[in-house]
Amino acid sequence: MGRNPMDAVTFARSALGNFRQTASVVPSSRRLARAMVDPVACLRPKVVLEFGPGTGAMTRELLRRLPSDTRLLAFEINPRFVVHLRETIPDRRVRFVPAGAETAARELDRRGISTVDAVVSSLSLGMMAVELADSIFRGIAPYLEASSRVTQYQYVHRTRVDGGKFSRFDARAMLRRHFSSVRSTTVWLNIPPAVVSTCAGVRETGRPTLG
Ligand SMILES: C[S@@+](CC[C@H](N)C(=O)[O-])C[C@H]1O[C@@H](n2cnc3c(N)ncnc32)[C@H](O)[C@@H]1O
Repeated sequence: MGRNPMDAVTFARSALGNFRQTASVVPSSRRLARAMVDPVACLRPKVVLEFGPGTGAMTRELLRRLPSDTRLLAFEINPRFVVHLRETIPDRRVRFVPAGAETAARELDRRGISTVDAVVSSLSLGMMAVELADSIFRGIAPYLEASSRVTQYQYVHRTRVDGGKFSRFDARAMLRRHFSSVRSTTVWLNIPPAVVSTCAGVRETGRPTLG
């Protein structure tokens, strides 16, 4: 399942329509997709969440590498992307949820899923309200186990845009608030180059304590 020729066009149209939400003008490179999926595929996960699949750069890499019985729930807020994903990625392992990542807990509960093995997030944390980004990570915390992994990328320019103002924003600082281990690697072959963080050891699970 290779890239669809319409991926780039659909992506660019969405970027022109709402750059703050799309956060890039081109889909991620295969190199970046591999770096995001490598730490997840080796777990042979049963349940994986994807946040912000866009036109499916990470989704295709995930489906290439995940076992045949994995369930992949991909949350995408842009309806144009959801239509494109459903048309171009016919794979029974994946469900495209036309809603924000902030609804993940509700969707998991609705489907009777209590444990998530991995999360692959392309959310542009630097473009989102800090409260929203924090609430997304808090929302998935109760479903993560010690062995679960979360991958997240950020472009190397580490810029935050808020109310038309630019400032420095290191997503790793935010991730460290939620995870005790955050390891990063840089992928230069992407436009723009990106830092991939692999997170483990969720700090706040919200799970009821036993005993
Ligand atoms: C930088 S693009 C990444 C797209 C794709 N994963 C890739 O790497 O090429 C960010 C994506 O996150 C989506 N997005 C933004 N806010 C979201 C939210 N709250 N929940 C789910 N998706 C969101 C955007 O619509 C967009 O598809």
